[in-house]
Amino acid sequence: MTVIGTGYLGATHAAAMAELGHEVLGVDNNPAQLAALREGRTPFFEPGLEELLAKHVASGRLRFSDSYAEAADFADLHFICVGTPQRSGSYAADMSYVDSAFSAIAEASQRPALLVGKSTVPVGTAARLQELITRVSPAGDGMQLAWNPEFLREGFAVKDTLHPDRIVLGTESSETEQRLREVYARPIAEGTPVVVTDFPTAELVKTAANAFLATKISFINAMAEVCEAAGGDVTVLADAIGHDARIGRRFLNAGVGFGGGCLPKDIRAFMARAGEIGVDQAVTFLTEIDSINLRRRTGAVDAAGELLGGQVSGRRVAVLGAAFKPDSDDVRDSPALDIAAGLHVHGADVRVYDPKAMHRAALAYPALGYADSLDAAVDGAEVVLLLTEWAEFRALTPADLDGKVAGKAIFDGRNVLDPAQWREAGWTYRGVGR
Ligand code: UDX
Repeated sequence: MTVIGTGYLGATHAAAMAELGHEVLGVDNNPAQLAALREGRTPFFEPGLEELLAKHVASGRLRFSDSYAEAADFADLHFICVGTPQRSGSYAADMSYVDSAFSAIAEASQRPALLVGKSTVPVGTAARLQELITRVSPAGDGMQLAWNPEFLREGFAVKDTLHPDRIVLGTESSETEQRLREVYARPIAEGTPVVVTDFPTAELVKTAANAFLATKISFINAMAEVCEAAGGDVTVLADAIGHDARIGRRFLNAGVGFGGGCLPKDIRAFMARAGEIGVDQAVTFLTEIDSINLRRRTGAVDAAGELLGGQVSGRRVAVLGAAFKPDSDDVRDSPALDIAAGLHVHGADVRVYDPKAMHRAALAYPALGYADSLDAAVDGAEVVLLLTEWAEFRALTPADLDGKVAGKAIFDGRNVLDPAQWREAGWTYRGVGR
């Protein structure tokens, strides 16, 4: 098989497919990325992925190429894993990478083949692509399509791919379904549920899942706003409502909100697509989910200002965290960097430190100040902001910072520290909704 697009999703999928025993050719047009992958190196940080990749590059089961002709010759099963970023100046998804990957492999296919889409796409895409690939391919009606959305989380990508919660197969033929059941024979044998459905439902499962997760986070962040006004504690509230199995405790952590390459752009693309198909009212609530989320970022900038007594300009601020979540070096739409940039705009002297994302952060936000260690970030800081909950930040105690900082004020943007411990040590502690 081939895996077309070797970014986050594709590189993980390719290595995981090799681990499941398949012969895999990864296809991409980015020469630097291919060069790294051929040496068994990932161009991004993901726990366990580099080991898996290197293992299968060495075994010869996983190779890489930039040629669609080679891909079409090598296999008759192609997974398409290219990105669908937010289109600039619009909420809609940019479908150009998906469209060109499907066209290119279809045009190169002289014999019947199965193209399997894994990218997160607006509902209706699969039906459109089925028509496109039959039209442009020399193999014509021999070109089959299936939609098999991917639910992996960054930081757990390998585990989520090898042991998924469920496998969703959007397919129009039992032959295609059977083919994909063979591909995933191992997880299926381990008991992974398989949901077989039509194209639009398969596409929507992914969109709906991400919309629901975003809603859960914004719900608890809205409760955090209420707790702040009423003097309650949102972490206790989340524990208490989470005991109800119908609600569940996971994804109810109030904080500076969701970021990353998926949730923010996926809910916006969902709103755009719903408008196109005439059901915008059904998802109007997502506008509010997005606003609550963005309000947590401005709220954090305000909180830092209050901890500084209202004067931000010229003041030294330590920002702990740059990645959008721990165990990742991904800074796409990162709340931490957005907040750091907000303070920088107000004239603060910001020092950002992250265990893995420094390089990407500096590329994305070159104007910010960076420190190459936690100690260097907090040295002389008048306020410390914990914005990404890396294990080394969660483990911080007042004793670790005393004597280094210039002011004992901390904003715990992920509610991971013990407020009592910090207050007892003479710190001004501020969390989110507690
Ligand atoms: C998400 C989905 O979880 C995954 O299924 C999908 O395939 C891709 O999008 P990912 O972007 O890797 O995965 O991150 P996720 O773990 O979902 O976290 C997203 C954001 O929400 C992070 O910024 C995280 O900090 C934030 N978050 C998560 C919260 O603020 N509170 C929570 O309780 C959980």
